[in-house]
Amino acid sequence: MDAAGKILAQATFSYPLLTPQPGWTEQNPEDWWHATVQGVRAILKKASVPARQVQGIGLSGQMHGSVFLDAQKAVIGPAILWNDQRTAAECEEIERRVGGKEQLLQLVSNPALTGFTAPKILWLRNHEPENFARVKKVLLPKDYIRFRLTGTFATEVSDASGTLLLDVVNRRWSQEMLGKLDIPSEWLPPVFESPEITGKMTPEAATELGLEPGIPVVGGGGDQAAGAVGTGVVEPGILSVALGTSGVVFAFSKEPSQDAQGRLHTFCHAVSGTWHVMGVMLAAGGSFQWFRNALSAEEQARAKAENRDVYDILTELAATVPPGAENLFFLPYLSGERTPHADPHARGAFVGLSLRHQKAHLVRAVLEGISFGLRDSLEIIRELKIPVREIRVSGGGGKSPFWRQLLANIFGEEITVLNVEEGPAFGAALLAAVGTGAFPTVPAACQASLRVVDRVVPEAEWVAFYEKR
Ligand code: XUL
Repeated sequence: MDAAGKILAQATFSYPLLTPQPGWTEQNPEDWWHATVQGVRAILKKASVPARQVQGIGLSGQMHGSVFLDAQKAVIGPAILWNDQRTAAECEEIERRVGGKEQLLQLVSNPALTGFTAPKILWLRNHEPENFARVKKVLLPKDYIRFRLTGTFATEVSDASGTLLLDVVNRRWSQEMLGKLDIPSEWLPPVFESPEITGKMTPEAATELGLEPGIPVVGGGGDQAAGAVGTGVVEPGILSVALGTSGVVFAFSKEPSQDAQGRLHTFCHAVSGTWHVMGVMLAAGGSFQWFRNALSAEEQARAKAENRDVYDILTELAATVPPGAENLFFLPYLSGERTPHADPHARGAFVGLSLRHQKAHLVRAVLEGISFGLRDSLEIIRELKIPVREIRVSGGGGKSPFWRQLLANIFGEEITVLNVEEGPAFGAALLAAVGTGAFPTVPAACQASLRVVDRVVPEAEWVAFYEKR
């Protein structure tokens, strides 16, 4: 991105997901680093900007994952990820140690959820004591990349909020929580605000990436907070819906607003001194992806032959049957769920199947089921009296006009689309621009670089129809 907020180049590299047991998800941090190196080298080539002109780097990444390092700063085993469900017993242990859910909400503003980081630390202690004995540091995914870039240990408030160890109200580690869980506080890195500079690029990393040493690396943000910066969700009234593997409804908040039942996450925002609340579905795009993998061999072959995106073919198929998919429902709980049903054992289902239903009905029901799942989070945000003026949609799923209209109709709200599609990565770049002085504040950076390019208006007839469903 240049200093005016214009994207110069982008690149994407993927890495494998390991599922060694049902409900378990892991990745190798070394694979992230490898993809980072490939990505940076690819954008340097594409952008045709001399490497010495790079002024700053921002980081974003999947939240909650645990990277355990030993005394030699080497990674102990694969990282356990945000959607891993192995820690149900540890979540109960945390509630017990802290003295109940209410106490927990008071200390860290959030309930113990299987995907969060603290239960993963306890899981290692309970199940792999020999590995646990070697632990000297615990990092979040993007903060491991920071360590590889700068040699320093650091994190920032938005990602740290998802560890269950941060005093979210006061934006610092909760010593009380650490004490109750017997986690040494020196295992955790210092916490910064998201636009602050946390370190500088080492000569070794610079050589590997093809950059200059000394480039400042700012805090950045967890994928959701950085994505919200990248979609301008930095002031009251603006919400975003991010449709990636997970599905997130995200609202800006001037205060650390909290649902008394802890159904929404209350986290620090990447805008200094502000917060956000969000509802997270674990399998939003993930449910659609499951459908593609499990039930769409024919469409995949067609996509290949016609050089098209298989998801476009599937949404076209969905559009051939009426709203409501002739009374078929899909429950999108393929990975258990977080919001509004925090339950690692929840499972997906098609409900109401009949002989009449064809594949088109199934796809439509999947898309509607995911959208209703997001609507559940929106309802809780409305209950908290957080103003809803505009909902911005982003992520892979947000690219489909069919799905956008469906969301507008199921939410009964206008959906807007922005000029920039790369939410989290763009947000991280904006944070780097703020931290290195190109913009005075995060909202100023957003204002300079973002504009609404499309508005999808809800259709009254279908709003009423879906309201009943
Ligand atoms: C947020 C969350 C996901 C992951 C992966 O709480 O779990 O957004 O960060 O995208």
